[in-house]
Amino acid sequence: MIFTTIILAAGKGTRMKSELPKVLHPLCGKAMIHYPVDAAREAGSEKIVTVIGHGADSVKEKLALKDMAFVVQEEQLGTGHAVMVCKDSVQDKSIPVVILCGDAPLIQSTTITGLVKSHLDNKNSVTVLTADMENPQGYGRIIKDGSEILRIVEEKDASHEEKCICEINSGVYCVDGEFLFKTLESVGKDNAQGEYYLTDIIKIGSEAGKKVGWSKITDSSETMGINSRKELAEAGAIMRRRITDDLMAAGVTIIDPECTYIDGTVQVGRDSTIYPQVRLEGKTLVGENCAIESGAVIKDSHVGNDTHIKPYCVITDSRLGEKTAIGPFAHIRPASIISEGGKVGNFVEIKKATIGKGSKVNHLTYVGDADVGQGVNIGAGTITCNYDGYRKFKTVIEDGAFIGSGTNLVAPVTIGKGSVIGAGSTITKTVPPASLSLTRPEQRCIKGWPEKRRKERGE
Ligand code: UD1
Ligand code: CA
Repeated sequence: MIFTTIILAAGKGTRMKSELPKVLHPLCGKAMIHYPVDAAREAGSEKIVTVIGHGADSVKEKLALKDMAFVVQEEQLGTGHAVMVCKDSVQDKSIPVVILCGDAPLIQSTTITGLVKSHLDNKNSVTVLTADMENPQGYGRIIKDGSEILRIVEEKDASHEEKCICEINSGVYCVDGEFLFKTLESVGKDNAQGEYYLTDIIKIGSEAGKKVGWSKITDSSETMGINSRKELAEAGAIMRRRITDDLMAAGVTIIDPECTYIDGTVQVGRDSTIYPQVRLEGKTLVGENCAIESGAVIKDSHVGNDTHIKPYCVITDSRLGEKTAIGPFAHIRPASIISEGGKVGNFVEIKKATIGKGSKVNHLTYVGDADVGQGVNIGAGTITCNYDGYRKFKTVIEDGAFIGSGTNLVAPVTIGKGSVIGAGSTITKTVPPASLSLTRPEQRCIKGWPEKRRKERGE
């Protein structure tokens, strides 16, 4: 099946009450406009032409993809006008044109292929994708005579009787290329909105004796158009449910899909368990047999097999090896690597640091701009002092080192292999391998001092 796709995305989206063009509002990790584009591409569209207008530059920038063409509709004079401006960009008019709305992201590629097939099989001039809606308010209604479509009437132009019709126009069509552009020439704007309605090609076609067909979709949610933030949230819930359904079908346990937020771009391996209130975003890849507990927010990160992310961890742009344990309450900032078997415990912040195999950073610690070897133990309250107010410096901790609690490592500094740092030290110089370093004033002991103080205070 060869066809061209036109995606209408020039409208302002007034009801969103936003500075951002409507089709750029994010939905499960992608701008809304990406969904119809991806669906068209997946369905095998030859060429995709997107009509842009409001926020044209930012929409174009977001979609800057090789196989896309853009047409700017300077003034938004209606959906019919929007398609008309694509006339020159759709060179091959002998193949069908599929029209999608940029603000209807739930459309699936199989629906598009089904529509094109029905269009070709029935040798139609135009085929409309329709749906039965419990609440059809706001949509164009399908006016039929028996099984034949006569026209589509917009909500604002509809009579009371017509408004009671529940079969709606999804805004998705498959149209014969020649017929489309020729018919659009005779579309006027004598209607309640004073716009050139694309839907008028149905009436014109049917009156001219052309074959006008329709294909009704069973899952009406696919055709949902987003016009407001409320609808954006509703579409988000449907999209999230699709994503979690797919993951569960692939062997992932999701304790409560209603409150689990996973972008469509994320992959999760089998036998992993995702607890409620987890957000997995962007290019995140979770391995097999992992547990991701509540409150975890993981973005653009890799999580190795058999890893346990305990509650309330924030992990960004980092890589966790196999069998690592993170949190609770850990912050793994960008460019960090926690190697196999590594442990990062509660209230620990790691930034741009590599933690070697089996190393432990268990409590209340900051490790930034550091290279930590294998089998290292970093005691509670250790701080890499990586910043002098002007520049960042690196800390190197070699294999098998033991850093006592409450230590400050003033970078640039290296702790040699197998060395021990005494608790409470402030280390400013290189520590050679296999040695003990500590910077600790000697402890004094003054017997009877508390009693003496009390007397002095007259207590
Ligand atoms: C349109 C249909 C309606 C259908 C509904 C499905 C018409 C006249 N009506 O109504 O029958 O039920 O979609 O969601 O076609 N756009 C442009 N340029 C314009 C006008 C609109 O690019 O000049 C784009 C919008 O950005 C949007 C799409 O076309 O992506 C649909 O426009 P919108 O104004 O939302 O149409 P509806 O009133 O929803
Ligand atoms: Ca709409």
